[in-house]
Amino acid sequence: MKFFVDTADLTEIKELAATGLLDGVTTNPSLVAKSGAANFVELIKDICKTVEGPVSAEVAATDYETMLEEGLYLAKLAKNVAVKVPLTPAGLKVCKHLSGQGTMVNVTLCFSPAQAILAAKAGATFVSPFVGRLDDIGENGMQLIADICQIYAQYPEFKTEVLTASVRHPQHVVQAALMGSHVATIPPSIIKQLFAHPLTDKGLAAFVADWQKCGQKILPSKAA
Ligand code: G3P
Repeated sequence: MKFFVDTADLTEIKELAATGLLDGVTTNPSLVAKSGAANFVELIKDICKTVEGPVSAEVAATDYETMLEEGLYLAKLAKNVAVKVPLTPAGLKVCKHLSGQGTMVNVTLCFSPAQAILAAKAGATFVSPFVGRLDDIGENGMQLIADICQIYAQYPEFKTEVLTASVRHPQHVVQAALMGSHVATIPPSIIKQLFAHPLTDKGLAAFVADWQKCGQKILPSKAA
């Protein structure tokens, strides 16, 4: 399973890239606005230099012609750009065009299995179902992931990867993994939560204390 970080904050991206556990980055207009970055294009170039894997950069237009122009422009910024388009008729038309020329495309704002089928038929590299936003309105976000994974598994011609998005807590990540979601894009705070368990902290404290008591060292003393 691949882990993408869902942020446009370059400092956070650099910190997480240093762990070696990061496979890509997703941004969206709201995350870019939150980051305070003054120049979106320069930000995407910087992120693409920091992380080798796919970096999703979202178009701003909603009409086909402008969206395509923006997508073609974004695709030229770096070889690891994945152009992000909304799951609309125009967005899927742009997806078909870009994927046909070998550009990675992330189809975002997916809220139903029917939409995910369309994204796969349009040749999307990734489809992004938003689980948290479905939970927020009383629906079952993870059921959507299960449904899409089941549908895609029946059609080997569908090459689209399921990218679980709008992740709100570690259990979304675990459930996505159990269901076979190829990717989860995770906010930095939740990636940090994935590491945490109170028994890990307690156990480590006990090991450190016991090691001190036995007075030994693993590494040989360095010559003066
Ligand atoms: O990147 C898109 C998605 O992950 C947004 O999440 O928290 O705004 O619903 P959220």
